[in-house]
Amino acid sequence: MISDLRPRDAARCAALEAILFAGDSPWPADAFRSEMLAPHNHYFAVRDDETLIGYAGISVLGPTDHPECEIHTIAVDPAYQGRGHGRELLLALLEVADRHRAEVFLEVRTDNDTAIEMYRRNGFEQVGVRKRYYQPSGADAYTMRRPAVGIAAAKEQLA
Ligand SMILES: CC(C)(COP(=O)(O)OP(=O)(O)OC[C@H]1O[C@@H](n2cnc3c(N)ncnc32)[C@H](O)[C@@H]1OP(=O)(O)O)[C@@H](O)C(=O)NCCC(=O)NCCS
Repeated sequence: MISDLRPRDAARCAALEAILFAGDSPWPADAFRSEMLAPHNHYFAVRDDETLIGYAGISVLGPTDHPECEIHTIAVDPAYQGRGHGRELLLALLEVADRHRAEVFLEVRTDNDTAIEMYRRNGFEQVGVRKRYYQPSGADAYTMRRPAVGIAAAKEQLA
């Protein structure tokens, strides 16, 4: 079940981050603390009892009549991957975007087949490539975009 990510989760996030994004500037605990408290950001958690097993974050940016969302991260503990938690986290982020009727952008490593497939199946398409986006690895990123939902679809989702 999805809940809010809390400042006291920051150290555990940083530990998972170091495993999952080694070589791509994993965030330290302080970065998680400040991002999860920033007013335009929404961070979510998945837990197994009290243990944090996944986290995800999104920001809502731009003018209210043309908002844009940017997915910051989605990550699941390797021991818990492949059980639907990543999708569950993504849907929580997309619910935020749909509430604002915002289009959504993200970057993903071009060799991250699992994440790319997850995004494709949930309405994203590739719109660009950013060379050497990740550092220090120098890996390339695809930019992916999901269009804003229409007013009718947004109302239906909120009903
Ligand atoms: C990407 C990640 C968050 C997915 O989380 P997960 O809990 O393993 O994924 P789920 O079990 O919810 O599966 C979601 C979708 O991912 C895709 N997927 C999952 N495992 C896959 C695999 N082995 N091969 C290809 N696609 C796969 C499928 O599209 C799946 O959708 P489906 O259930 O409709 O088939 C997880 O692999 C992860 O933390 N990876 C490392 C961090 C990362 O790369 N994050 C993304 C940064 S942009």
